Amino acid sequence: MDLGISGRRAIVCGASAGLGRATATALAREGVSVVIAARTRENIEAAAKEIASETGAEVIPIAVDVTTEAGRTELLAACPAPDILINNAGGPPPGDFRNWSHEDWIKAIDANMLSAIFLIRETLDGMIARRFGRVINITSHMVKQPAGFLGLSNGARSGLTGFIGGLARDVAEHNVTLNNVLPGQFDTNRLKSNHQRFAQGSGRDLASVRESAKLQIPARRFGQPEEFGAMCAFLCGAKAGFITGQNILLDGGQFPGV
Ligand SMILES: NC(=O)c1ccc[n+]([C@@H]2O[C@H](COP(=O)([O-])OP(=O)(O)OC[C@H]3O[C@@H](n4cnc5c(N)ncnc54)[C@H](OP(=O)(O)O)[C@@H]3O)[C@@H](O)[C@H]2O)c1
Repeated sequence: MDLGISGRRAIVCGASAGLGRATATALAREGVSVVIAARTRENIEAAAKEIASETGAEVIPIAVDVTTEAGRTELLAACPAPDILINNAGGPPPGDFRNWSHEDWIKAIDANMLSAIFLIRETLDGMIARRFGRVINITSHMVKQPAGFLGLSNGARSGLTGFIGGLARDVAEHNVTLNNVLPGQFDTNRLKSNHQRFAQGSGRDLASVRESAKLQIPARRFGQPEEFGAMCAFLCGAKAGFITGQNILLDGGQFPGV
Protein backbone atom coordinates (compact mmCIF):
# COMPACT_ATOMS: atom_id res chain seq x y z
CA MET A 1 0.00 0.00 0.00
CA ASP A 2 1.42 3.38 -1.01
CA LEU A 3 0.85 5.69 1.97
CA GLY A 4 1.10 8.77 -0.25
CA ILE A 5 3.72 10.58 1.86
CA SER A 6 6.84 10.28 -0.27
CA GLY A 7 8.69 13.62 -0.21
CA ARG A 8 7.12 14.71 3.10
CA ARG A 9 9.32 15.85 6.02
CA ALA A 10 9.21 14.37 9.51
CA ILE A 11 10.69 14.95 12.93
CA VAL A 12 11.00 11.77 14.99
CA CYS A 13 12.02 12.18 18.63
CA GLY A 14 13.69 9.45 20.67
CA ALA A 15 14.77 7.71 17.51
CA SER A 16 18.17 6.07 18.02
CA ALA A 17 16.55 2.90 19.40
CA GLY A 18 13.31 1.10 20.09
CA LEU A 19 9.90 2.40 19.01
CA GLY A 20 11.09 5.82 17.80
CA ARG A 21 13.75 4.28 15.60
CA ALA A 22 11.29 1.75 14.17
CA THR A 23 8.89 4.60 13.37
CA ALA A 24 11.62 6.65 11.69
CA THR A 25 12.59 3.60 9.63
CA ALA A 26 8.99 2.93 8.57
CA LEU A 27 8.58 6.56 7.46
CA ALA A 28 11.91 6.54 5.63
CA ARG A 29 10.79 3.39 3.77
CA GLU A 30 7.84 5.47 2.49
CA GLY A 31 10.23 8.08 1.07
CA VAL A 32 9.82 10.59 3.91
CA SER A 33 12.87 12.77 4.78
CA VAL A 34 13.40 12.33 8.50
CA VAL A 35 15.17 14.38 11.12
CA ILE A 36 15.80 12.07 14.05
CA ALA A 37 16.70 13.06 17.61
CA ALA A 38 18.18 11.39 20.68
CA ARG A 39 20.59 12.56 23.38
CA THR A 40 23.58 10.30 22.70
CA ARG A 41 25.39 11.65 19.63
CA GLU A 42 27.18 8.44 18.71
CA ASN A 43 23.95 6.42 18.75
CA ILE A 44 21.78 8.87 16.81
CA GLU A 45 24.48 9.30 14.15
CA ALA A 46 24.86 5.54 13.78
CA ALA A 47 21.06 5.12 13.55
CA ALA A 48 20.84 7.80 10.85
CA LYS A 49 23.51 6.07 8.75
CA GLU A 50 21.83 2.68 9.09
CA ILE A 51 18.32 3.94 8.30
CA ALA A 52 19.58 5.95 5.30
CA SER A 53 21.52 3.02 3.89
CA GLU A 54 18.57 0.64 4.35
CA THR A 55 15.94 2.96 2.85
CA GLY A 56 17.76 5.44 0.60
CA ALA A 57 15.90 8.30 2.34
CA GLU A 58 17.46 11.50 3.68
CA VAL A 59 18.03 11.00 7.43
CA ILE A 60 19.49 13.83 9.52
CA PRO A 61 20.62 13.06 13.09
CA ILE A 62 20.35 15.71 15.81
CA ALA A 63 21.86 14.99 19.23
CA VAL A 64 19.56 16.80 21.65
CA ASP A 65 17.46 16.29 24.74
CA VAL A 66 13.91 17.00 23.57
CA THR A 67 12.77 17.71 27.13
CA THR A 68 14.79 20.96 27.15
CA GLU A 69 13.94 24.18 25.36
CA ALA A 70 17.47 24.42 23.93
CA GLY A 71 17.18 20.89 22.56
CA ARG A 72 13.83 21.55 20.90
CA THR A 73 15.12 24.82 19.39
CA GLU A 74 18.07 23.00 17.83
CA LEU A 75 15.80 20.25 16.53
CA LEU A 76 13.35 22.71 14.97
CA ALA A 77 16.21 24.62 13.35
CA ALA A 78 17.03 21.42 11.43
CA CYS A 79 13.40 20.96 10.35
CA PRO A 80 11.33 24.11 10.91
CA ALA A 81 8.30 23.00 8.88
CA PRO A 82 7.66 19.28 9.38
CA ASP A 83 4.58 17.62 7.87
CA ILE A 84 4.87 14.82 10.42
CA LEU A 85 5.85 15.04 14.09
CA ILE A 86 6.48 11.98 16.24
CA ASN A 87 6.79 12.88 19.91
CA ASN A 88 8.69 10.47 22.10
CA ALA A 89 11.07 10.55 25.07
CA GLY A 90 12.18 8.07 27.68
CA GLY A 91 9.69 7.12 30.36
CA PRO A 92 10.19 8.12 34.02
CA PRO A 93 11.49 5.53 36.51
CA PRO A 94 9.08 3.28 38.42
CA GLY A 95 8.74 3.62 42.19
CA ASP A 96 6.53 4.45 45.15
CA PHE A 97 4.67 7.77 45.03
CA ARG A 98 5.66 8.46 48.65
CA ASN A 99 9.24 8.98 47.49
CA TRP A 100 8.61 11.24 44.49
CA SER A 101 9.64 14.87 45.02
CA HIS A 102 8.29 17.96 43.32
CA GLU A 103 11.36 17.84 41.08
CA ASP A 104 10.64 14.21 40.08
CA TRP A 105 7.12 15.21 39.03
CA ILE A 106 8.31 18.23 37.05
CA LYS A 107 10.86 16.05 35.22
CA ALA A 108 8.14 13.54 34.27
CA ILE A 109 5.75 16.27 33.15
CA ASP A 110 8.51 17.94 31.09
CA ALA A 111 9.43 14.65 29.40
CA ASN A 112 6.06 13.01 28.84
CA MET A 113 3.68 15.93 28.51
CA LEU A 114 5.18 19.39 27.95
CA SER A 115 7.96 18.51 25.47
CA ALA A 116 5.29 17.12 23.10
CA ILE A 117 2.97 20.10 23.63
CA PHE A 118 5.76 22.62 22.98
CA LEU A 119 6.88 20.88 19.76
CA ILE A 120 3.25 20.81 18.61
CA ARG A 121 2.92 24.52 19.44
CA GLU A 122 5.88 25.35 17.16
CA THR A 123 4.79 23.22 14.20
CA LEU A 124 0.99 22.98 14.09
CA ASP A 125 0.15 26.31 12.45
CA GLY A 126 2.48 25.51 9.53
CA MET A 127 0.71 22.17 9.08
CA ILE A 128 -2.65 23.96 9.10
CA ALA A 129 -1.44 26.48 6.50
CA ARG A 130 -0.15 23.66 4.24
CA ARG A 131 -3.35 21.61 4.81
CA PHE A 132 -1.47 18.49 5.81
CA GLY A 133 -0.23 17.46 9.23
CA ARG A 134 0.19 14.25 11.19
CA VAL A 135 1.17 14.28 14.86
CA ILE A 136 1.71 11.09 16.83
CA ASN A 137 2.58 10.92 20.49
CA ILE A 138 4.10 7.68 21.71
CA THR A 139 2.50 7.20 25.14
CA SER A 140 1.78 3.91 26.92
CA HIS A 141 -0.84 1.20 27.48
CA MET A 142 -0.61 2.34 31.11
CA VAL A 143 -2.77 5.34 30.16
CA LYS A 144 -5.69 2.87 29.83
CA GLN A 145 -4.52 0.27 32.34
CA PRO A 146 -2.46 2.14 34.95
CA ALA A 147 -0.21 0.44 37.51
CA GLY A 148 0.75 2.37 40.65
CA PHE A 149 4.51 1.83 40.37
CA LEU A 150 4.51 3.77 37.05
CA GLY A 151 2.54 6.67 38.53
CA LEU A 152 4.95 9.36 37.29
CA SER A 153 4.49 8.13 33.74
CA ASN A 154 0.72 7.59 34.06
CA GLY A 155 0.14 11.04 35.55
CA ALA A 156 2.16 12.97 32.96
CA ARG A 157 0.93 10.97 29.97
CA SER A 158 -2.70 11.30 31.06
CA GLY A 159 -2.26 15.09 30.96
CA LEU A 160 -0.97 14.86 27.40
CA THR A 161 -3.82 12.51 26.44
CA GLY A 162 -6.47 14.96 27.65
CA PHE A 163 -4.79 17.89 25.93
CA ILE A 164 -4.55 16.06 22.59
CA GLY A 165 -8.20 14.99 22.76
CA GLY A 166 -9.28 18.63 22.69
CA LEU A 167 -6.72 19.98 20.23
CA ALA A 168 -7.37 17.20 17.70
CA ARG A 169 -11.00 18.35 17.32
CA ASP A 170 -9.96 21.99 16.89
CA VAL A 171 -7.73 21.34 13.86
CA ALA A 172 -9.28 18.30 12.13
CA GLU A 173 -10.93 20.43 9.42
CA HIS A 174 -7.44 21.39 8.13
CA ASN A 175 -6.38 17.79 7.40
CA VAL A 176 -4.19 17.88 10.49
CA THR A 177 -4.56 14.85 12.75
CA LEU A 178 -3.25 14.19 16.25
CA ASN A 179 -3.26 10.69 17.72
CA ASN A 180 -1.60 8.85 20.56
CA VAL A 181 -0.21 5.38 19.97
CA LEU A 182 -0.05 3.28 23.14
CA PRO A 183 2.58 0.54 23.26
CA GLY A 184 1.93 -2.51 25.41
CA GLN A 185 5.03 -4.63 26.02
CA PHE A 186 7.42 -4.21 23.09
CA ASP A 187 10.80 -5.88 22.97
CA THR A 188 13.07 -2.83 23.40
CA ASN A 189 15.86 -1.71 25.77
CA ARG A 190 13.28 0.08 27.90
CA LEU A 191 11.27 -3.12 28.45
CA LYS A 192 14.44 -5.11 29.20
CA SER A 193 15.59 -2.58 31.80
CA ASN A 194 12.14 -2.58 33.46
CA HIS A 195 12.23 -6.39 33.64
CA GLN A 196 15.82 -6.31 34.93
CA ARG A 197 14.80 -3.90 37.69
CA PHE A 198 11.84 -6.10 38.62
CA ALA A 199 14.03 -9.23 38.62
CA GLN A 200 16.58 -7.60 40.95
CA GLY A 201 13.85 -6.28 43.27
CA SER A 202 12.06 -9.63 43.53
CA GLY A 203 15.11 -11.90 43.60
CA ARG A 204 13.96 -13.73 40.46
CA ASP A 205 16.02 -14.37 37.36
CA LEU A 206 15.47 -12.22 34.28
CA ALA A 207 14.41 -15.10 32.01
CA SER A 208 11.59 -16.17 34.34
CA VAL A 209 10.39 -12.56 34.75
CA ARG A 210 10.22 -12.23 30.96
CA GLU A 211 8.39 -15.55 30.55
CA SER A 212 5.75 -14.54 33.13
CA ALA A 213 5.36 -11.15 31.43
CA LYS A 214 4.61 -12.91 28.13
CA LEU A 215 1.93 -14.99 29.85
CA GLN A 216 0.01 -11.76 30.68
CA ILE A 217 -0.30 -11.11 26.94
CA PRO A 218 -2.91 -13.08 24.97
CA ALA A 219 -0.53 -13.08 21.96
CA ARG A 220 2.03 -14.81 24.30
CA ARG A 221 4.89 -12.72 22.97
CA PHE A 222 6.27 -9.19 23.15
CA GLY A 223 5.54 -6.79 20.32
CA GLN A 224 8.25 -6.15 17.75
CA PRO A 225 9.25 -2.49 17.23
CA GLU A 226 8.72 -2.93 13.48
CA GLU A 227 5.01 -3.64 14.11
CA PHE A 228 4.76 -0.39 16.05
CA GLY A 229 6.55 1.60 13.34
CA ALA A 230 4.21 0.22 10.67
CA MET A 231 1.11 1.44 12.58
CA CYS A 232 2.62 4.90 13.06
CA ALA A 233 3.53 5.15 9.37
CA PHE A 234 -0.04 4.22 8.41
CA LEU A 235 -1.45 6.90 10.73
CA CYS A 236 0.88 9.42 9.06
CA GLY A 237 -0.36 8.42 5.62
CA ALA A 238 -2.48 10.45 3.25
CA LYS A 239 -5.35 7.95 3.63
CA ALA A 240 -5.45 8.23 7.45
CA GLY A 241 -6.86 11.77 7.50
CA PHE A 242 -10.17 10.63 9.06
CA ILE A 243 -8.46 9.13 12.13
CA THR A 244 -7.87 11.77 14.79
CA GLY A 245 -8.03 12.26 18.55
CA GLN A 246 -7.61 8.51 19.09
CA ASN A 247 -5.65 6.43 21.57
CA ILE A 248 -4.58 3.39 19.62
CA LEU A 249 -3.49 0.44 21.70
CA LEU A 250 -0.93 -2.05 20.38
CA ASP A 251 -0.65 -4.64 23.13
CA GLY A 252 -1.28 -8.15 21.80
CA GLY A 253 -4.69 -8.15 23.52
CA GLN A 254 -3.41 -7.41 27.04
CA PHE A 255 -6.02 -4.72 27.87
CA PRO A 256 -8.96 -6.79 29.16
CA GLY A 257 -11.77 -4.69 27.70
CA VAL A 258 -13.36 -3.62 24.45
N1 LIG B 1 8.84 -0.72 25.03
C1 LIG B 1 7.75 -0.83 25.72
O1 LIG B 1 7.31 -1.94 25.97
C2 LIG B 1 6.99 0.40 26.20
C3 LIG B 1 5.76 0.21 26.86
C4 LIG B 1 5.05 1.32 27.28
C5 LIG B 1 5.56 2.59 27.07
N2 LIG B 1 6.75 2.74 26.43
C6 LIG B 1 7.25 4.11 26.23
O2 LIG B 1 7.54 4.34 24.88
C7 LIG B 1 8.64 5.25 24.77
C8 LIG B 1 9.72 4.63 23.90
O3 LIG B 1 10.13 3.44 24.53
P1 LIG B 1 11.25 2.46 23.91
O4 LIG B 1 10.90 1.12 24.47
O5 LIG B 1 11.36 2.66 22.46
O6 LIG B 1 12.55 3.01 24.65
P2 LIG B 1 14.11 2.76 24.30
O7 LIG B 1 14.31 1.51 23.52
O8 LIG B 1 14.81 2.94 25.61
O9 LIG B 1 14.47 3.98 23.31
C9 LIG B 1 14.31 5.31 23.77
C10 LIG B 1 14.87 6.25 22.70
O10 LIG B 1 14.55 7.59 23.06
C11 LIG B 1 15.75 8.34 23.21
N3 LIG B 1 15.49 9.32 24.29
C12 LIG B 1 15.19 9.06 25.57
N4 LIG B 1 15.04 10.21 26.25
C13 LIG B 1 15.23 11.20 25.35
C14 LIG B 1 15.21 12.62 25.45
N5 LIG B 1 14.97 13.24 26.61
N6 LIG B 1 15.47 13.36 24.34
C15 LIG B 1 15.73 12.76 23.16
N7 LIG B 1 15.75 11.41 23.00
C16 LIG B 1 15.51 10.65 24.10
C17 LIG B 1 16.83 7.30 23.53
O11 LIG B 1 18.15 7.71 23.19
P3 LIG B 1 19.07 8.53 24.26
O12 LIG B 1 18.97 7.78 25.55
O13 LIG B 1 20.43 8.56 23.65
O14 LIG B 1 18.46 9.90 24.35
C18 LIG B 1 16.38 6.20 22.57
O15 LIG B 1 16.72 6.53 21.25
C19 LIG B 1 9.09 5.54 26.21
O16 LIG B 1 8.49 6.72 26.68
C20 LIG B 1 8.56 4.35 26.97
O17 LIG B 1 8.34 4.64 28.33
C21 LIG B 1 7.47 1.69 25.98
